[in-house]
This record gives sequence, C-alpha cells and structure tokens, in this order.
Amino acid sequence: MSQSIDALREAALAALGSIHDNDGLSAWRAQYLGRRGAVSGLFGTIGSLPKAERAIFGKRVNALQGELRQAFEGREALIQSQRLARELEEGEIDISLPAQPRRRGGIHPSTRTHREFQQIWAEMGFQVFQSRDVEEDEFNFTLLNLPPHHPARDMQDTFYTTDPRVLLRTHTSPGQIRAMRALGAGGSKPIRVILPGMCYRQEQVTARSEIQFTQVEGLAVGRNIRMSDLKGTIAEFAKRMYSPDARVRYRASYFPFTEPSMEVDVECFLCGGAGCRVCKYTGWLEIAGSGMVHPEVLRNGGYDPSEWSGFAFGMGPERITMLKHGIQDIRYFWGNDLRFLQQF
Ligand code: PHE
Repeated sequence: MSQSIDALREAALAALGSIHDNDGLSAWRAQYLGRRGAVSGLFGTIGSLPKAERAIFGKRVNALQGELRQAFEGREALIQSQRLARELEEGEIDISLPAQPRRRGGIHPSTRTHREFQQIWAEMGFQVFQSRDVEEDEFNFTLLNLPPHHPARDMQDTFYTTDPRVLLRTHTSPGQIRAMRALGAGGSKPIRVILPGMCYRQEQVTARSEIQFTQVEGLAVGRNIRMSDLKGTIAEFAKRMYSPDARVRYRASYFPFTEPSMEVDVECFLCGGAGCRVCKYTGWLEIAGSGMVHPEVLRNGGYDPSEWSGFAFGMGPERITMLKHGIQDIRYFWGNDLRFLQQF
C-alpha cells in the first residue's frame, strides 16, 4: 500500500519538474489533484483495505496531497518568475512606458458651491441643519403661513405622493419649522442655522429651470433681531462669496412666511455692475429671497413672537455655479453626462 503512495509521489514530482508552462500546470493538477485525479483515486481505495490499515493509509494519502499541492504552487511561482524574467529580457514589456493614468473622480460643481456656501456661513456662526426631502404638506405650506387654498401655493408647483399629505419639498423653508422645533428648546433658545438641500417643483424643464434644484436656507432667531441684521449679514456673505467690494441691494417682495419680505440682488460679478449679457444689462444678479420671519411662523416653531424675532433667506446656488463656470444649461447638473461632470 505505502508502495503505491511512494510510486505516485515519485511519478508526480518527476512530471511536475518537466513542466514549463501554464497549460502543463493545469493538466498536471487535473491528473494528480483533480476530483478524478490520482490522489482522489487513492482515497477511493481506502474502503477496500482491512480496517486496521485504513487510518494510517488515509493519513499518508493526506500528507501526499499536501506535499503535491505545495510542490505545485512552488512550480507555478517559479514558472511565473521565469516568464517575467524572460519577457523583460526579450523586451516584451517596456518598463519605460508611462503608466496608464488612473481616472480620478471629481466633485460635482453644485457640491463645490454648497461647500463654499457652508464654509462661509459656518465662519459667520451658522450651523448646518439637515432637513428632509420628502415633506409633509403641513410643513411645506401650512405651518409657513400658507393654509390650504391659499393662492400663494400656486407660486410653487408641487410633486405630491399618492398620499396628498406627503410631497417633495418645493423649497428648503419647511426646514425652518423643523430647526426651530429641534434646536429652539421650546422657544427658549436663539438659533442660527443654514439648511442646504434638494428641492423639487413640477415645472417645464428648460435651459433655465429644472424639476430639481438646490437651495440654501438661512434662519436666525433671537431676542433682538432686526431687519438691519438681515441686511448686514447678507451683505457680509456677498463680500465673502463674491468680492470684497460687492454691493448688495434689496427690493420689496412677498413671501407668506416673512414680513416684510425682500429680494436680494448682488452687483453683477462678471461686469462689476456696468451691465452685460449675463445680468441682462441691469448690473445686478438676484441671489436670494428673504425677510423677517412672520410672527405666525415663529409661533409654529415654538417661539413667542412678542419676545422673539428672526430673519430668513433662501438662496439658489445653481445660478451662481452656472455664472461662475459659464454653464449655459441647467439641465447639465442632474443629467449625469460624464462629458460634463469630468470637467470639474
Ligand atoms: N422659500 C422661498 C422660495 O423658495 C425663498 C425664501 C426663503 C424667502 C426664506 C424668504 C425667506 O422662493
């Protein structure tokens, strides 16, 4: 019995020693170590042995199997290193060739602008509050002083889910209520937050409007916050974001959740206010909607409006990003076209 093991070992190792390529290796492995190979064959004979010999024989076959496997791996490594050495010698591998460049991912242009915004607002003491994309009608509208059937609901065409109480937020403003309730400690603590995120509106998609876009909402609530604080804060942001001498102007406007309300323009940073195609020869670019938080909204956030006041604003970073990079069409942003994305 042990003779058959020794004979097999000898034959196998001799055969392995004369192999010089991968095909030979695979054939050898099948012949000796494969499921129907010689070692398996030996295992198969165990049953026909006298009981007393079975254990010892099994052990030996096991040892043989381990030995052959090791020999195989050694031979494989040797053949590979010989091939590499030969190829280097024969010049099949040109080690002076430049390496294949690795493709690196880039940061989405919209994300870049958001990070810049967040950095600036953080320096000015605003904390980031992440609110939700899927909102309740109550938060998106009603608690923001837009009760059902309020005509101003039509200012924002809405995507509803199958549940009419649940929708995709049309602006980041519902986060105002959530932030006041989450951080205001029942209307006893001042807060200063920005709320960045995606918004959705059921609009005709064109080069200038998309059904999804991002906003950065800002909210400050405190005991003595006045309109001058809003104006000063936004002016400071514009200086840090656009240019140290960026001028800002405020135009009266209307939002149900702020009173008074105003829109904010910054002097066109492309022409310096002289007038160009981008600013449509007005010298100004609209950057935000804003206003003093409506007393009803403060109340809905848990604050007593006779003691607390606040300001809020909502900015649209996409437009800024388009202007900065000369992007002509807003549809590129979420089109997932690598030819566009790889430029950033
Ligand atoms: N939510 C408003 C919009 O999307 C912008 C805004 C935010 C206005 C905060 C005032 C205060 O148009």
